[in-house]
Amino acid sequence: MSLPMIVKTANSRYLGSVIRPTRFRTVLKVMRNLPGAVADYLYDSLRYFRFSSTFYYGTRANRLSRITAMYHSVERGLALPEPQLGFGAQNIAYLVEAIEEYIRRFGVDSSLNPAAGALDAYLAFNKNNNVDPPNRAAIESVLHKLKPIRSKEGDGGTIEILRDSICSATANVTAEFFLRRYSIRQFSDEEVSTDDIDGAIVMAQKSPAVCNRQECRVYVVHDKKLMLKMLAIQGSQGFNHQVNKLLVVTNRLTAFYGMGERNQCWIDGGMFAMSLVLGLHSKGLGTCCLNWSKSAPPDRAMRRLLKLPASEVIIMLIAVGHIPAKLSVARSLRQPLELARRHIINASEIQSGGGVVQVDAPEASST
Ligand SMILES: Cc1cc2nc3c(=O)[nH]c(=O)nc-3n(C[C@H](O)[C@H](O)[C@H](O)COP(=O)(O)O)c2cc1C
Repeated sequence: MSLPMIVKTANSRYLGSVIRPTRFRTVLKVMRNLPGAVADYLYDSLRYFRFSSTFYYGTRANRLSRITAMYHSVERGLALPEPQLGFGAQNIAYLVEAIEEYIRRFGVDSSLNPAAGALDAYLAFNKNNNVDPPNRAAIESVLHKLKPIRSKEGDGGTIEILRDSICSATANVTAEFFLRRYSIRQFSDEEVSTDDIDGAIVMAQKSPAVCNRQECRVYVVHDKKLMLKMLAIQGSQGFNHQVNKLLVVTNRLTAFYGMGERNQCWIDGGMFAMSLVLGLHSKGLGTCCLNWSKSAPPDRAMRRLLKLPASEVIIMLIAVGHIPAKLSVARSLRQPLELARRHIINASEIQSGGGVVQVDAPEASST
């Protein structure tokens, strides 16, 4: 039977433009997909314009994202091998001003605690080195206002740690931990404990995030009916009834500013999601990431179902369950190492258009 006949018998759509992409088919495909692509870009852009701190700066969340980035740059400066005395005067002036404005608008609350800690550590660092930093009076004044919300356990700034404390934690982690993680699409009936999920979320919260703007959220869905509706929107098939908990990882557009950060929400969100998957794996639970590569209609449907804040974007869904004693997993073969990495020992080895190993047409060089 010919391919078109097989496709017709299966009541499916003939993917001629994928399998044999002639010029004519490609033109047709562009014409067919262009309106949808424009509509989806518009859908994403409107949300971005509305909530990204790139354009609007008035809400509490917008302001906190900037304050976090600014106080973190103080912490970062203090964590360098040789911090410069009195460093970052301009950034600190902005930070103090931003905190003052925040207090004027929203009052003093505990979200300013780490910023206070960083400023405190900055003053202490300069004092220990007999330096009177610029802005000292302004810093002291704002710290006085923040006194009521300071935590006793310690907040921003730096902490001293021993290498051994890191190495003893990693000593028992082998490559096997990573290589024995599979996407699991068969789960047992055993109930996943909320403690295990919460424990893994705490691990995920330790993920690096740009300027420590930790704004990822996880919705843990227990309700089976709701779960099945969500999985239907996602398009998952064949194992939905076995999924014990369904997680939705989101990130907040308000956390990011500047066009350079236009994709950062998804980068940070992806890193958070990976840590979450590994955290669940460390508890012996099975997970399957479920893509949120969606156009506007399913995205709207999911948002309606979960009543998601409009400023949040969905990064992905993660199906979670206990792993049965014996199961099949997709082999999901990896590329050979040589294909994925290239050592650059000397800059002279860098060639225009030279990626790692060419397997098909070279991609355009970025230079
Ligand atoms: C962001 C993301 C989305 C994914 N979406 C799906 C999905 O919708 N359905 C599914 O069955 N697997 C999905 N996967 C799982 C991949 O197919 C799987 O990770 C890949 O084949 C590698 O296999 P492994 O996870 O077993 O190592 C997704 C993975 C990622 C990272």
